[in-house]
Amino acid sequence: MSNPFKYGPIALDESFTDRDAEVAELSADALNGQDVVIFAPRRYGKTSLVHRVAQRLATRRALVAEVNLWFTPTKEKLAGRLAREVADILGLAGKAREIARAFAGLRITPTITIDPNDGSLSFSFAAGHASQDVDDTIEHLLRMLAETAVGRKRPVVLIMDEFQEIAEIDPGLTKLLRSVFQEQPEVSHIYLGSKRHLMERIFNDANEPFWRSAKRVELGPIEPEAFRPFIVAGFRDHGRNVEDGVVDRVLAVTGGHPYATQELCYFLWAETPAKRVARDGQFDAALTKLLRSEHSHLSDLWDRATANQRLLLAALADAPGHPLSEDYRARHGLRGASTTQKAIDGLVKQEIVAKAGGFVRIAEPFYAEWIRRNG
Ligand SMILES: Nc1ncnc2c1ncn2[C@@H]1O[C@H](COP(=O)(O)OP(=O)(O)O)[C@@H](O)[C@H]1O
Ligand SMILES: [Mg+2]
Repeated sequence: MSNPFKYGPIALDESFTDRDAEVAELSADALNGQDVVIFAPRRYGKTSLVHRVAQRLATRRALVAEVNLWFTPTKEKLAGRLAREVADILGLAGKAREIARAFAGLRITPTITIDPNDGSLSFSFAAGHASQDVDDTIEHLLRMLAETAVGRKRPVVLIMDEFQEIAEIDPGLTKLLRSVFQEQPEVSHIYLGSKRHLMERIFNDANEPFWRSAKRVELGPIEPEAFRPFIVAGFRDHGRNVEDGVVDRVLAVTGGHPYATQELCYFLWAETPAKRVARDGQFDAALTKLLRSEHSHLSDLWDRATANQRLLLAALADAPGHPLSEDYRARHGLRGASTTQKAIDGLVKQEIVAKAGGFVRIAEPFYAEWIRRNG
């Protein structure tokens, strides 16, 4: 039997749990033409959630285009990716001649390549064209999405993942996209991204074109109690069982962090022999193996931290709390309040540490455990 727990790729089908309320809300927003921006740290399940929403929308006759800006580092690449989405939405996948006709009006003509293995098409726009011509091509492709919505009387939804990369691709792109989107109420947009300070700047700064242009949705971890049945069923349906107390320990370590929970369960299942029950012994061995496999990642984080940040992290690994209070600083040998504040701010910006009110904790999964074991 194969391991039912998966971490890394997007969570599909049986790997996906909970998030019913979010799926319902985001689907309704998209069908109502309401633009939405989803905020969450990386590995919280944004991409998986929105993919689920896209599947739901497809059952409601919506046409969905998905672009991940991570993989479109230039405007030409973005145009190429949009061209593919437009061809799909027009129902032209695989029909090279019709596509050539549909794209005849583009300022720059894409090169169309057919994958010999599966017949899928990809589109590329050569580098070296005038910037204005590339902009015009992107604008035209986006307009084709809106025209399809109107012409076919079907909702069109454009999903833009890792949206914070937009300014990195080209400084003028944000303004270009916003001005096109503003003129097409018939296309709804879902934006998602990981680097909170960049996402906040795009959507929450009055000088930015996307300022207040979309409804904000904050995606939290999965409620531990909602995660529990998924974990229990994963073991039960794959030839093992797990003690309730061990599930408690899993959820206590991960706090319902989707990636971390799947990862720890992956190791725990692997540690449990067929037809046996995962108990404390398996849990301890699984966590040790997991920390070993995460060692290079976690030691990189430690390596990048300043001396004051390390001091703070070591304190937080022992005791999450209010590091700015005199009492906490005295107890953990931290430096002055302003030095500590600076360390907190730096780590919050990297999303290694989370702060709610004055309460500070380590947010990076397994980092606290790793620090305690190495300290
Ligand atoms: N709804 C979910 N149910 C179970 N596991 C999930 C869920 N969403 C995400 N995960 C876990 O988290 C991992 C990262 O998900 P992903 O969607 O790529 O996150 P993000 O886009 O926020 O970085 C997945 O590989 C999976 O292990
Ligand atoms: Mg993602």
